[in-house]
Amino acid sequence: MAEVLDSQTRKAFADRLRYYNELGIYDFYRRAPHDIPSAVAVEQNIPELTETAPQMPRAAIAAPPAVDRPAALRMIREEIGDCTRCRLHKQGRKQIVFGVGNPNAELMFIGEAPGADEDEQGEPFVGRAGQLLNNMIKAMGLQREDVYIANIIKCRPPGNRTPERDECETCSPFLMQQIKVISPKAIVALGAVAAKTLLAVNAPMSELRGHWYDFRGTKLAVTYHPAFLLRDPRQKKETWKDLQMVMKELGLKAPEKVSE
Ligand code: URA
Repeated sequence: MAEVLDSQTRKAFADRLRYYNELGIYDFYRRAPHDIPSAVAVEQNIPELTETAPQMPRAAIAAPPAVDRPAALRMIREEIGDCTRCRLHKQGRKQIVFGVGNPNAELMFIGEAPGADEDEQGEPFVGRAGQLLNNMIKAMGLQREDVYIANIIKCRPPGNRTPERDECETCSPFLMQQIKVISPKAIVALGAVAAKTLLAVNAPMSELRGHWYDFRGTKLAVTYHPAFLLRDPRQKKETWKDLQMVMKELGLKAPEKVSE
């Protein structure tokens, strides 16, 4: 029978995982209980991983070179399950909003968190901000179905408040796995929460946007969040510059006329 971790071990285990994540290590695997501990586990004093270890993304399953991306994404989704890893599961979320789009996408957009419409429909960016994001994608000469869209966290925070740091830390390892499986050529972080979480920096959007970052070997650009653009349409011009930078990188040309 699987051994249940006591709360102290569980916390030590979660801290250790976070430490590895910070080092850029996301790939772990479960050992059969009878396996001898690996040298690194012994050396680093990593507690035994058990079937009940709560924060272990089993789908951490490093994407092999010839990866079946849809299957790998399904495994990540299965591992998330009906998640209770953070407080958001008891704060009114209806469902987990995993991510949507082309598993082989060259371009990935990452937002902040689901809102009411997304929570209702189980899909990111389907409300007003989503309509604007769709228009941004079309202006780049792409369709929504061509790209992959996800959020830093997968559950709606109550009242659409900004996600707490610990919520981002708990949830983002699953996003890291999605990124790894999809392995896009470029990522666009939409807004400050996505940018700051992915880049682990604290700077105003005006400084964050407008240039490329290296995100674990993938090019990452930052631009304004569509919800912000709905409030301040004057920033659309700057956003278009960011998107053009991305288009140049991906060899995309803007269509002469953007269809509705
Ligand atoms: N805002 C986000 O950041 N993500 C969504 O999915 C919807 C709105």
